[in-house]
Formats: sequence, structure tokens, C-alpha cells
Amino acid sequence: MGSNKDEVQVSYDVSNEFFRLWLDERMNYTCAVFESENQSLEAAQLNKLAILSDFAKVTPEKRVLDIGCGWGACLEYLASARSVKEAVGVTLSSAQAAEVNARKIPGVRCVESDFMKWETEEKFDALISICMLDHLCSPAEARQGKAIDIYRAYFKKCWEMTNPGAWFGLQTILRNRVPRNKKDLEDIYFCTHVIFPGGLNPRLEDILQAVNPYWEVITVKQRRRDYQRTTAEWLRRMRAHEANIRKTWGDQVFDDYDRYLSTCVRAFEAFYSSLAQYELRRLDG
Ligand SMILES: C[S@@+](CC[C@H](N)C(=O)[O-])C[C@H]1O[C@@H](n2cnc3c(N)ncnc32)[C@H](O)[C@@H]1O
Repeated sequence: MGSNKDEVQVSYDVSNEFFRLWLDERMNYTCAVFESENQSLEAAQLNKLAILSDFAKVTPEKRVLDIGCGWGACLEYLASARSVKEAVGVTLSSAQAAEVNARKIPGVRCVESDFMKWETEEKFDALISICMLDHLCSPAEARQGKAIDIYRAYFKKCWEMTNPGAWFGLQTILRNRVPRNKKDLEDIYFCTHVIFPGGLNPRLEDILQAVNPYWEVITVKQRRRDYQRTTAEWLRRMRAHEANIRKTWGDQVFDDYDRYLSTCVRAFEAFYSSLAQYELRRLDG
């Protein structure tokens, strides 16, 4: 179902040092939220983490789970800025889990597992999941009409892992309009199949259907322009390291990531893609 471990490693295990060159200093690999024209990517990433933590109603004593925790930016934010005493992350990437656990952030633990297969008795009071859902359903499964069932199984698992009264700060990329020209179609196909194999960005309507009967949608915020700006900034930073990247990881890596990030900037402009943040409340009783 969706991206398997080998496919996730294609997306995230090129090298931690490669991603460190062009992401923000905390290595958020998802859309930031810009409050002004001049705001830095670093500050905008903190805004994003604050919004999702507020959606999840995070307080210091709550046990928080970050599903698809990447290199631990949100976990670190929860421990430092929100004084959360216990935050657990789960990721399918070995390189990310090793990086998070090596940092020994007080109160933070990272589990290397497929979330959908993770067997644990642990329960959480608050959930955050930032662009992990985008890996859950493959293009083939979507064509077979399985997307809503797959997302519903995820929301059910999220429900089962929480205590009554839990809140959930969710963020996903969205797919919207289908390109009508060959180049854009080919570039989006390339991003889906070469950079993020096994996954497919969801449609908003599929998510709104799939949360039932587990979560109530309180807020949906659309952030298409923010993701365009985030990916443009990643592209600018990556190009600034072109010579080093070509020398260290080879021409193919630079050319692939240049094509992928350029496509993202265009896709958000043309409304092929968008981004949404959701405030969800657990349905109890
Ligand atoms: C785009 S990254 C986002 C990382 C992080 N949330 C951030 O904001 O930087 C997607 C994350 O989802 C994780 N992931 C994808 N499929 C997963 C699965 N089935 N179980 C656990 N983690 C998964 C990847 O390993 C990666 O950490």
C-alpha cells in the first residue's frame, strides 16, 4: 500500500548532508507558512509548526505523536518551544530515524516503522502529521478506486492510537487540476514516479470523506502560495550549491532535484497542486 520502505528510501535517503544544504536549518521538508514578504524560510517553518501544534492543542503534559516525522524538526520544536515532556516520532526512513535518535533531544524518541503496521499499546493525546499521508496511496491504487478506503484506514489507526479528547494537526499536499500540456504532464509524472515513488498526492474531497467516522473537521486552511514560495526557496538554495552537489552526489542527483523543484514551483502556480492544513477533533462516544 503506498510507498514501501525501499521507495521511501529513494525519496529521503539520498544523503542527510544533501538535504541539509538546501532545507532550513531544522530540516523541515514540507511547506512553510510565510507571514510577510520578507520573512525567512527558517521563521516561516516555525510558523507552520506553531499552527499545527495549535491545531493539535499541544500542551506540555500531553503525549504527542508525529506521524512521518522526517528529520525531527517538529519533535524538536515540541520539546523546546512547547515544553512537551514526551514526543514520539515515526518514520519509514532509516536515515531519518538514525538522525533523530542521534540528537538525543530530551523527551523525544523516534521509531523506525511503517505507521500502518506499527504495533504498540501506546496512546497519545495529540497527533501531528505533516505530509506523510501523501505516501499512503499509490497511483495504481487510486486508479482502482481504493484511495478513500486507504485514507480511512489511516484515520482509523490514528483514532485507535489516541485517548478520548485528542486533537490532530494534519498537513497534506493536494492534487487539483490535471495539466493539459505534454511537458507539465511529463514533469509531474517524473516527480510522482522518480522522486516520490509509490505515493500520490490526495484530493481534498477524498480526505474530507475519509476522516469519517473518526475525526471532525474543524478548520481547513489552503496554503498553495506558501508552498510555491517554499519550493522556490529550496530551489534557489540548492542551485547555490550546484558545483558541490554535482561533485559529491553526481550530475543525475542535481539534475533530478532541479527538475523536481522547478516543477513544484510551476505546479503550485498553475493550480495542479496545492497544500492544506486541517484542524481535526477526535469523535468520541
Ligand atoms: C515529506 S516527508 C515530511 C517529513 C516531516 N514531517 C517534515 O515536515 O519535514 C514525509 C515523511 O513521511 C514518512 N513516511 C512515509 N510513509 C510512511 C509510513 N508508511 N510510515 C511512517 N512514516 C512514513 C517518511 O519517512 C517521511 O519522514
